[in-house]
Amino acid sequence: MDRFQIRGGKPLHGTVTISGAKNSALPAMAAALLTAEPVTLHNIPMVRDIITMARLLAFMSARVTTTDFPAADYTIEAATLNGAVAPYELVKTMRASILTLGPAVARAGIAHVSLPGGCSIGARPVDLHVAALAKMGAEISTDHGYIRAKAPGNGRLKGAHIIFEKITVTGTENLLMAATLAEGETNLENCAREPEVTDLIHLLRKMGAEIHGDDTSTLRIRGVEKLHGAIHSVIPDRIEAGTFLVAGAITGGDLTITNCAPAHLGAVIAKLEKAGAPIETPNATTLRVRGTKALAAADVTTEEYPGFATDMQAQYMALATQAEGTSVITETIFENRFLHASEMMRMGANISIEGRRAVVRGPAKLTGTTVQASDLRASAGLVLAGLVASGETIIDRVYHIDRGYERIVEKLQAVGADIERLHSKDG
Ligand code: UD1
Repeated sequence: MDRFQIRGGKPLHGTVTISGAKNSALPAMAAALLTAEPVTLHNIPMVRDIITMARLLAFMSARVTTTDFPAADYTIEAATLNGAVAPYELVKTMRASILTLGPAVARAGIAHVSLPGGCSIGARPVDLHVAALAKMGAEISTDHGYIRAKAPGNGRLKGAHIIFEKITVTGTENLLMAATLAEGETNLENCAREPEVTDLIHLLRKMGAEIHGDDTSTLRIRGVEKLHGAIHSVIPDRIEAGTFLVAGAITGGDLTITNCAPAHLGAVIAKLEKAGAPIETPNATTLRVRGTKALAAADVTTEEYPGFATDMQAQYMALATQAEGTSVITETIFENRFLHASEMMRMGANISIEGRRAVVRGPAKLTGTTVQASDLRASAGLVLAGLVASGETIIDRVYHIDRGYERIVEKLQAVGADIERLHSKDG
């Protein structure tokens, strides 16, 4: 297994270009299952989860074409579907594989999708996806770790009125996709409003879907018989951009972040400014952060969009270890998302965990040691901690970070970080 070696203490200076959003690219790729015609996607990030999704779609009989592998441009043509089976071997590393369930059952009338794996951040069930599809008339059974969904007699799901008990991002996306090909109208209430959901709506509309309610928590979808091909460029990755904002702030550097969407980063920008890191928005696709030696504590509570993203919580914790005073970080979305805290404590951070709250007292002098990455965003938090720690930090199990950050080592090196990937001898 590859590891990262970081020698901390260097302020980062220069320009970082943000890649496409993994969490937009994954549903966009799954949406290609809704039509027999080709869907061409641009600005796809070159990360492991995308490769997994491409393999999964290919297994389901879609033709996946790229100039290279990995690449930023994909064409997916699902002329036929193979009874729509998503096998455990392909989905075990990626929870987002559940995104194939809605489109596959809507298009093929039947789908057989392994229960997903993914980040180890709590139970993360898919009960809301399944209950909502059942409301659309799907017969659902689970056996041997697989979900089997079958559309009613004529093979088409039926429009329904669905109120999500809890806000779920991929649940909203799954049902949105399923509803585009259903018979009649579907109303989805208490939907996620993440920019990635809106991006999916834009793609589906280009494919011929009738959807109303963009950026709101109530979506109305009038099902159509067929969707067609489309060309779409996915939005920039707001979590990658946020991670680099913290990197600039925490190292006392000066980073310009291009190709990003500042409009999607409101809560993160406001919090970093409150913590004493001034952020400028020179234009609609660029941010600049200038670090300061005097970061101040600020409390954070994770929330659904437009609140502070849970996917930025670990990175913010790294920053809080360097801020003067006590920051209380409350995680409301996932129940087990503080695994990075104990690793940061091993580096010298002063953190105590009380249920869903982490109390971080700073500034702490971090020192390098060997730490374990436990999930995708936790790994990013540890990289940030390593960038300010004295001496050498080794981060183990970086396959987690490779799932979602494109060329993070190269991007950090280009702005002056002392970071290397140590390739494992066992391949
Ligand atoms: C998506 C993102 C992930 C992000 C998360 C929250 C993708 C591919 N992943 O994950 O990066 O951290 O949103 O912003 O877009 N829940 C249930 N039952 C369900 C579904 C969810 O109880 O059927 C719970 C979850 O356990 C969690 C909460 O709802 O506590 C929110 O999860 P959800 O929004 O579904 O996360 P994902 O869509 O998996």
